[in-house]
Amino acid sequence: MPSEKQHNLFGLAESCLFGGDLDGLLEQTHQARRYLDLKQLGFNSDTDPKPISHTVFPDRPVLMMPKDMPRRGTETQAGQGAFFHALAHIEFVAIYLAWDIIYRFRGLPEQFYIDWLIIAGEEATHFEMLRQHLRQFNTDYGDLPAHSGLWWHARETEHDILARLAIVPRCMEARGLDVTPSVMAKFTASGDQAAVAILQRIYEDEVGHVERGSFWFNTLAKQAGLDPEQHYKNMLLGFYKGKPKGPFNREVRLKAGFTAGEIDWLEEGLTTG
Ligand SMILES: [Fe+2]
Ligand SMILES: [Fe+2]
Repeated sequence: MPSEKQHNLFGLAESCLFGGDLDGLLEQTHQARRYLDLKQLGFNSDTDPKPISHTVFPDRPVLMMPKDMPRRGTETQAGQGAFFHALAHIEFVAIYLAWDIIYRFRGLPEQFYIDWLIIAGEEATHFEMLRQHLRQFNTDYGDLPAHSGLWWHARETEHDILARLAIVPRCMEARGLDVTPSVMAKFTASGDQAAVAILQRIYEDEVGHVERGSFWFNTLAKQAGLDPEQHYKNMLLGFYKGKPKGPFNREVRLKAGFTAGEIDWLEEGLTTG
């Protein structure tokens, strides 16, 4: 390995995914991006990834089954704090998801890893902005329980890169593109301009994450001799067990690399989701 490339991407990914230390994760994620910019990052892979079931999350927040999560409206301060805590948790898991797609799927083009390392850094920034916003509710990330379901889709797609790309960026993150405009409208109406600015930044970055998901899904499906659009439908039906609920943000999904045919298919029989 050339001496200037002393930092290995997969080693950094492993220490992020198995370290279990929140502040360490954030620091190493930003540091990895700096190594990339300084051309100090090596991409050689000479170890096998550990099983996804060994991934270590920080002790807090306590993770709960979605059905056990307390339900609160956003009319009260406590309810708003819980809402931003839940959003921060989504971004927190997104950091793990970006690292895991790097760590778990080897032998892909260098640009694939660069794209997801940049995304990991953006997810860390989203998390930090939301964590900061949460403080005005006298709450820190980890003070409340969080939803354990977000990681399931990663575990279910541990062995299949096309399933991972279909389910994580092209289904879960794409749902964020559908729902964020109405959430922003709500905070605009309530006068929380700081929240709107954070959500706007996240929304813009997430279009890029979904677009990278579409690009790599299409590229890798074609390389495998598959029809990407048909395979996307198969992956959703097989791994998501159906279609996500709409309505779908057609204009932004087109920008994020969905085909009109895919969106038409998602919209057919919306009640089946
Ligand atoms: Fe994000
Ligand atoms: Fe994202």
